Amino acid sequence: MCGIVGYIGKNEAKNVLIDGLAKLEYRGYDSAGISVLNNKITTVKAKGQLANLVKKSKDFNLEGNIGIGHTRWATHGEPSDLNSHPHLTENKKISVVHNGIIENYEELREELKNKGKKFVSQTDTEVVPHLIETFYEGNLLDAVIKATKRIEGSYALGVICEDEPDTVVAVRKDSPLIVGLGDGENFIASDIPAILKHTKDVYLLNDKEFVVLEKDKVTLFDENKNEIKKDVYKVTFDDTAAQKGGFDHFMLKEIYEQPKAIKDTLAGRVIPKERIVLDNIDKDAFQNIERIFIVACGTAYHAGLIGKNAIERLSGVPVDVDIASEFRYRNPILTKNTLVMVISQSGETADTLAALRLSKERGCKTFAITNVVGSSVSREADYVLYTHAGPEIAVASTKAYITQLVALYTFALYLAQDRNYIEREKIESIKEELLTLSDKVEKSLENSKISKEIAQKIHKETDIFYLGRGMDYAVAMEGSLKLKEISYIHSEPYAGGELKHGPIALIENGTVVICLNTNKELRGKMDSNIKEVVTRGAYIVGVIPESYTDNLETYNTIIRIPDTDPILSPVASVVPLQLIAYYVAIEKDCNVDKPRNLAKSVTVE
Ligand code: F6R
Repeated sequence: MCGIVGYIGKNEAKNVLIDGLAKLEYRGYDSAGISVLNNKITTVKAKGQLANLVKKSKDFNLEGNIGIGHTRWATHGEPSDLNSHPHLTENKKISVVHNGIIENYEELREELKNKGKKFVSQTDTEVVPHLIETFYEGNLLDAVIKATKRIEGSYALGVICEDEPDTVVAVRKDSPLIVGLGDGENFIASDIPAILKHTKDVYLLNDKEFVVLEKDKVTLFDENKNEIKKDVYKVTFDDTAAQKGGFDHFMLKEIYEQPKAIKDTLAGRVIPKERIVLDNIDKDAFQNIERIFIVACGTAYHAGLIGKNAIERLSGVPVDVDIASEFRYRNPILTKNTLVMVISQSGETADTLAALRLSKERGCKTFAITNVVGSSVSREADYVLYTHAGPEIAVASTKAYITQLVALYTFALYLAQDRNYIEREKIESIKEELLTLSDKVEKSLENSKISKEIAQKIHKETDIFYLGRGMDYAVAMEGSLKLKEISYIHSEPYAGGELKHGPIALIENGTVVICLNTNKELRGKMDSNIKEVVTRGAYIVGVIPESYTDNLETYNTIIRIPDTDPILSPVASVVPLQLIAYYVAIEKDCNVDKPRNLAKSVTVE
């Protein structure tokens, strides 16, 4: 969702801001704007793509070395030039960019209107500059501290003030914000890729930490204005990780990065004949755990469904999987022996974070699987297992999902090694198999031509079904989600045995059904389910292991995947589904990396 960049230093702020905003485009946005301070604040805002802002900027004098910029994903007020950020005071002396939601904005707006403040937009954010102005007595930091005491909700703020031309003030609460430390220049941003071209040294801010950014100095304060010290975090990836690297789209690049991401996520944790070690997690941490809840949204939720299967089968611990936005409101039964595991690529998803907080309040142990170091879930959970997918830029998650699966298998085996639920030899054989997954995904990718041909055949369909049993069903859900989010084709996943309870009524001559049939134990039943739709005229695409030779005539097209233990099969079987979605979207000329209406990091509930 919204992206923030702020700059002070030796270079033209405009260029740094626009370049940084371009790196945050992946978060999803519908308008953008910048303010540059040079004696006076000059602000330019434009609805639509960043290119519109760049074009419009040419008509303004935006010279200056200090500024703030923003990409907006509309929540309060339609996407428009007026509603875009930055928002300013009437005299244009204070300018603010904001990511998050001010929950009490209506009350504040009334109060400020009664004090004579004039509002020009429909946004919640516009109360912030006015509020800061009412508290301003010659010190911007003081005014921002006072203003945040009145604000309820979530915010990452970047603020500049005409009367303080050498400072950017920033703060975060429940919305991401980092500080980039340069040489004679400093930055704020919603995410690391925005500043990576300039520096790899960052401060990862905690909630209610205030930043005073100057050209040669960054000072951090708590809400009582006590100065705080923080370790510098060294970013381990470089600018090229957030570039397309010769691929047409980030999504395709990220699909092809999966073998490496799997290896990186297993490295140092899963080693043949050795105990699995989880970073900074005590050997006995989960000894008393009797039940696990996995809580997540979207693709991460789909990974959780596979995690449930793996954890229950390998360790015998019962697992429930919940959609985060539902979990909080169903009053889940949580005890001190419950482990709540949240899964989140970004680590900032509002519902997932809220579920984590609820679980902590109820006294459970909490565990986060996340891809972003220093993200909110990583800071708030008792235990963290990082996926090492590297920055995921395409809105549709691929490499983060596959590394979530790998992290979940690793965790399941970690629990299994002390629970005596399955034999030691079985644990060892799955571990060894886990270490072959990177090569198996590589092999699945070599088959990409078939996925492309299938996409050419099916891209004009209006409804596509995905079918599977057991773990294949969870993969079917993910394949179906990928297709709908980037190609806008309506699609439904079903459990093989469920079709005849209603949805089979939708199958007619030529309906495309993508069938996953990877598990030997379920194959007989799944073959029957496939025949049920074949009889009704469906066009069948099968995703099946190399060794499977029966009933091949049932399929119109076959995609082969490498054989593996059925518990691990999702890692290889999801790859052709990702590729089908990608190539269908290409055939339909869709905006693959930035599908309509979607945001990469969903920081509102
Ligand atoms: C789909 C997708 C979303 C995210 C979901 C949760 O491709 O990316 O469904 O999985 O919004 O996001 P995170 O994992 O950041 O919590």
